[in-house]
Amino acid sequence: MPPLLAVDLAPGAKNSLVLRNPVMPASGTFSWGLEFARHFDVNALGAVVSKGVTMVARQGNPQPRVAETPAGMLNSIGLQNIGIKKCISEMAPIWARWDVPVIVNIAGDTPEEFGEMARMLDGVPGVAALELNISCPNVDIGGIEIGQNVEAAGRAVRSAVRNTDLPVIVKLTPNITDPVGLAVACEREGAAAICAINTVLGLAIDTRRRAPVLPRARGGLSGPAIKPIALRIVYDVARAVRIPVIGCGGISSGEDAVEFLMAGATAVQVGTATFANPRAPLDVLEGLARWLEERGIADVNEIIGCALPEPVA
Ligand SMILES: Cc1cc2nc3c(=O)[nH]c(=O)nc-3n(C[C@H](O)[C@H](O)[C@H](O)COP(=O)(O)O)c2cc1C
Repeated sequence: MPPLLAVDLAPGAKNSLVLRNPVMPASGTFSWGLEFARHFDVNALGAVVSKGVTMVARQGNPQPRVAETPAGMLNSIGLQNIGIKKCISEMAPIWARWDVPVIVNIAGDTPEEFGEMARMLDGVPGVAALELNISCPNVDIGGIEIGQNVEAAGRAVRSAVRNTDLPVIVKLTPNITDPVGLAVACEREGAAAICAINTVLGLAIDTRRRAPVLPRARGGLSGPAIKPIALRIVYDVARAVRIPVIGCGGISSGEDAVEFLMAGATAVQVGTATFANPRAPLDVLEGLARWLEERGIADVNEIIGCALPEPVA
């Protein structure tokens, strides 16, 4: 018997988010999903996650925007995107015809802008949930990322939750000392789920030019290099919150997905692996299903959190 794979990412929420399986692409590595829909049936995935959308369209950063590193890559895309209005008018009608939930990743410039964008996306056919990318620098708090400040992150979540009935997923930055405290604050403000993690800040130097490879020096590290960091954060956050956690960071095989599920993730996202293999999310899904079947595990939910320590009474 093939194993049962369905998972619930928003139990008890006004709008549920039950996925037929726990595997989805990571934001920014699957574009709007349309390009991939030409290569395989995206409806086979648990969900599709859009690239980051901002209030106003962005051109993105100058080239080069990516640099290969050992076991990963650095990127500094600068949130190039068509803006929320075009996303609603041009992308959502296509998503509405798909048989897979689409999670829209939104990036606000201020905590309140997350609320405005949530209101614009509320009730739009084709949009199943929101993922808040809180790793954006915020002028109001001295240019640091909203996701690096518990108070600002809490305000962003509150503002989004008040303005939509859609499940609100919060995507954590790993570039903080206490991701657990931030996740707990987001849960308190009504987040339906936590996604961990976004990219890890890094740098590469071009020795020939004696300068950083990327024009803006720093970039976000992703790929297998960050898997242990992502696993550690999922493991810590899953013990501290009651809402589901989505694991993300360096996942490229079914066995990687199993590790994240055992560490407490209810679902996983596949990002950088998609650059080398556009079918990577499907391969991860098939690998996960095979792993369960070979061991006679009837339901994927049986392994979620099985590697976590017993709670102290
Ligand atoms: C080229 C690129 C673009 C990305 N764009 C976004 C984005 O728009 N919004 C977001 O929340 N995360 C974005 N991310 C982060 C990924 O969604 C993911 O969190 C991260 O890459 C770690 O997963 P991975 O190691 O599987 O790639 C981007 C990552 C890459 C490599």
